[in-house]
Amino acid sequence: MNTDSKPTAGLHQRILDNLSHAVLMFDAALRLVFINPAGEMLFAVSASRLLGLPAKDILPADSPLLAALRRGLRDGHPITEHEVQLSLPGQHKLTADCTVTPLSTRPDDSGLLVELRPLDHQRRVAREEQQIARQQTFRTLVRGLAHEIKNPLGGLRGAAQLLERELPAAGLKEYTAIIIGEADRLRNLVDHLLGPNTIARKESLNIHRVLEHVRQLVQAEVPHGIRFHTDYDPSIPHVTGDRDQLIQAVLNVVRNAVQAVGNEGEITLRTRARRQFTIGSRQHRLVCQVCVIDNGPGIPEELVENIFFPMVSGRADGTGLGLSIAQSLINQHDGLITCKSRPGHTQFCLLLPLETGGASTEKTTTSEERIPT
Ligand SMILES: Nc1ncnc2c1ncn2[C@@H]1O[C@H](COP(=O)(O)OP(=O)(O)O)[C@@H](O)[C@H]1O
Ligand SMILES: [Mg+2]
Repeated sequence: MNTDSKPTAGLHQRILDNLSHAVLMFDAALRLVFINPAGEMLFAVSASRLLGLPAKDILPADSPLLAALRRGLRDGHPITEHEVQLSLPGQHKLTADCTVTPLSTRPDDSGLLVELRPLDHQRRVAREEQQIARQQTFRTLVRGLAHEIKNPLGGLRGAAQLLERELPAAGLKEYTAIIIGEADRLRNLVDHLLGPNTIARKESLNIHRVLEHVRQLVQAEVPHGIRFHTDYDPSIPHVTGDRDQLIQAVLNVVRNAVQAVGNEGEITLRTRARRQFTIGSRQHRLVCQVCVIDNGPGIPEELVENIFFPMVSGRADGTGLGLSIAQSLINQHDGLITCKSRPGHTQFCLLLPLETGGASTEKTTTSEERIPT
């Protein structure tokens, strides 16, 4: 940063726009005079709908934040409230740390700066970081192990082939065939554990085409009692990705949903554009979120922590590879698959960063375009 000159108003604006925490400003009459994009996301309403409204029209009458605002204005001291339960418009509730800072330079020019740091967000980031770290450790272990297994296995297989040619009696070839067959099976298994080894051929593509392709594929093979719903955000910009890999990843997740609901159930494919969204520890300006939601029985509790590891399956005929492959494919796109599950509602979300460069980022992220009102 240039330390010689003062930051410009434009820089201030960009800093506020890119903060991942919500920042709001109320005037002395407790009317909202500023809200940053993270705040709009939190309230799920665009700034134009909120600006000028009194705090009592934005927050419920019994909201602890409303009480903190009044106290801040009265006492003139900063207040930090931890783990405040907030009921926000649109019926959603969240837990956040709130700081209210009175900003008064003159008695007639007072206001309150409010920072909201949702804890659900922090917990999610911590959980995702842990998930990524565990999977990375696992992959390093498997890679090392795979190397140790595949080299001698190649030797074993080659020797068995040579032996086969030398065998005097055809009946004995049954044994070399077993050695070769089992060596191939082991090699296959190790390859699957390693995950997909093809390099992504990325192109700019419409994620809804990918989803519709998967929906049509799966719909043709499922019982009539399974109903598909789509809830697409048509404003999502194109994703840069490998079409076949994305199809494979979505297909693995959707097939699991189909298997979970059995003969009758509802499966929803939902897309949303998320601004200032963190995937693991990296914050992205814009993320494409694809959720596959089913109303099946949910993921068994004893599996839920480990379902993205290979060979973890809750089904008698499962291989346990579907989700680990899907996760590797999405990781190759710098993305992540997350999941939340309770009986009757299981949601897998594929998060794909949309790194649009320069001017187009500005354009696609204006709050008016993105925030549902
Ligand atoms: N939508 C879902 N609802 C309930 N359980 C699920 C769902 N998706 C995955 N699972 C659980 O995760 C396990 C692992 O899935 P996956 O890696 O695709 O392997 P597989 O399908 O071969 O078992 C499944 O066996 C199942 O127990
Ligand atoms: Mg599966």
